[in-house]
Amino acid sequence: MTVTFAVMDILKAEYIISNPDVAQCPAPDKREFAFIGRSNVGKSSLINMLCNQPKLAKTSAEPGKTQLINHFGVTSRKNEKSKDPDRWYLVDLPGYGYAKVSQKSRRRWEQMIENYIRKRENLANLFVLIDSRHTPQKIDIEFINQLGEWGIPFAIAFTKADKEKPGAVKRNVDLFQNALKENWEDLPPMFLTSSTTKAGREEILEFLQECLGAE
Ligand code: GTP
Ligand code: MG
Repeated sequence: MTVTFAVMDILKAEYIISNPDVAQCPAPDKREFAFIGRSNVGKSSLINMLCNQPKLAKTSAEPGKTQLINHFGVTSRKNEKSKDPDRWYLVDLPGYGYAKVSQKSRRRWEQMIENYIRKRENLANLFVLIDSRHTPQKIDIEFINQLGEWGIPFAIAFTKADKEKPGAVKRNVDLFQNALKENWEDLPPMFLTSSTTKAGREEILEFLQECLGAE
């Protein structure tokens, strides 16, 4: 007997609006999942990969592309039998730690991100993206520890897994987990992803479905 694994089906994903301030974001009437991480880590690409729409969120080889809080509206269904679709938001955020902008602009971005993360009441989960090619970076660990202090639910997605040999990726993931264990007793959900090969897509969609299913 073959068991086919039914993964969430995204029926529609569309751009809604971009804002510099959480106060101007769409009414918090649907569950929301946001993507954060260092500039160029692959946030916009991962959103496009999950939605199967390469041009939904704007990507760039140059860091600092996403500069505002970008809302996308998604309609999905759990499987082909489900009648009532789920409606929710995906949010593409600017990256942190981008060195090439002025101190003032960087501070403004950081404030925008912090306000969004701490004030957005319908934020169901924040995906923190980590580049799987690198050993643990202080800025990422500090950001994650800060989320703990703020009590924000989050998961980790390691990105660009196609760019290194599997052994090197595994070594970096292990090192990252060890670094987290210095501050965290329980580790968050973790996903190994590639926007190029679509690795990790089913796992993340399954996790999103779990979050949506939980009332
Ligand atoms: P900012 O908005 O500037 O903070 O960047 P971002 O985190 O949204 O990154 P973006 O998705 O724009 O991707 C940055 C670059 O990395 C682009 O050139 C992407 O094509 C590339 N990239 C992203 N994800 C992957 C991946 O999984 N594999 C490979 N090979 N390249 C990727
Ligand atoms: Mg981006």
